[in-house]
Parts: sequence; structure tokens; C-alpha cells
Amino acid sequence: MTQDELKKAVGWAALDYVQPNTIVGVGTGTTAAHFIDALATRKDEIIGTVSSSEASTERLKSYGIPVFDLNEIDSLSLYIDGADEINLALQMIKGGGAALTREKIIAAVAQTFICIADQSKQVDCLGHFPLPVEVIPMAQAYVSRELVKLGGRPEYRKDIVTDNGNIILDVYDLLIDDPDKLEVAINALPGVVTVGLFAKRGADIALIGDENGVKKII
Ligand code: 5RP
Repeated sequence: MTQDELKKAVGWAALDYVQPNTIVGVGTGTTAAHFIDALATRKDEIIGTVSSSEASTERLKSYGIPVFDLNEIDSLSLYIDGADEINLALQMIKGGGAALTREKIIAAVAQTFICIADQSKQVDCLGHFPLPVEVIPMAQAYVSRELVKLGGRPEYRKDIVTDNGNIILDVYDLLIDDPDKLEVAINALPGVVTVGLFAKRGADIALIGDENGVKKII
């Protein structure tokens, strides 16, 4: 199977977790896009969605699926999203699609976060994928210097402005042996909006697609 076929398999498998008459949190990326395609087949059963990016909102609306402002809802039972890396503790690196801030907000609100990913995303130790950090533009140079002090090699992601009007620094060469500690340290830097480490609030369930099908990790 191709990587995209594995992404499609987990995107459609996530549909089993969608309950009627609920609002569903929807992530961003190619795997989440497959989930949106699947969700469209049951759109009349759900109340609607909250979306983690303009791109996902556009895809949801193209199917006629209602998208609510997160401020309009009191609680969210389910959030489905992909990841760039996921470890056995279900901690993740996210933000390859630059949507990390809205993704982290929705993950914080959701009671259950299901990560959908093909097997290439499963790792023992996070950090091979460069860690995305969303930064307020005037803080780019300062935050870059601080990230170097933390052992990383930040690179400015060209031609990207996030949905929140900020820039992305991708941090290479980090060996993330303590994800919780690094998440706190990077979040504490003035000018950092969000670090794409989802350690303190990881996923509750992972659906991982490989040649044998979709396996569930709790
Ligand atoms: C977007 C994300 C995505 O979940 C992550 O980049 C995975 O993307 P894909 O499903 O296309 O491999 O965090 O900000």
C-alpha cells in the first residue's frame, strides 16, 4: 500500500468513533483530509465540526458540513487529527502543516484526541522530524537564538504565514528525550505562540495504518 492509502485507511477508520448528534473536532493535513472525506458520508448525523485551519474549514464547507467557532461551544467530545511523529506514549510532533496553534487549542478542549497516522510517523524518540514553533514575527531572531541554546538548529520556514499571521521556525537536530520538559521550556520563551510538541496533552488513542491494517494503540 502507498503512504496515501495508509492515510486513507486510518482516516476512514476514525469514522467509527464519531457519535451522532455531536460536534467533531477536525485536524489539518492530508490524513485529516481523508477523515473529512469520510465524515462527509455521515454529515447529516452530526451537529457539525470545529476546524483547526482555514484549509480544513474550506474542505468541510465544500461538503456542506457546518463549522462552528470554538467559542460557540462549551465542550467537545472528540478531536481527530494527524501527526508528523508519534511515540509510544502517544506524545507527538505536529505542525508540518503550520496549523499547530489551532490544533493545540482544540486538543486542549477535546475530551478524546484520536491521532490518525500511517506507520512512518511512529517513532521511539521524537525529534527526527524538525520541531515546528509558531513565533510572532518580531521575535524571530530572539527565539532563534534561544532555540540554539536549547540545542536546536532553527530554520525559518519560507513563504509561510500561519492562519494567525505568524511565522514558523522548524527546529532541526533536537534529541527530545524529555518531551514534557522541552515543551514547557520552549512555550516559556517570549514571542513563542505555540511549540508543536504535544507532550503534556498527547493523544488518547492512536490509529496507525500499516500493511496489516489499522492498529489501535491506547
Ligand atoms: C498540521 C499537522 C498535521 O497533522 C501533520 O503535519 C501531519 O500531516 P499529514 O497528515 O499531511 O502527514 O500537524 O499542522
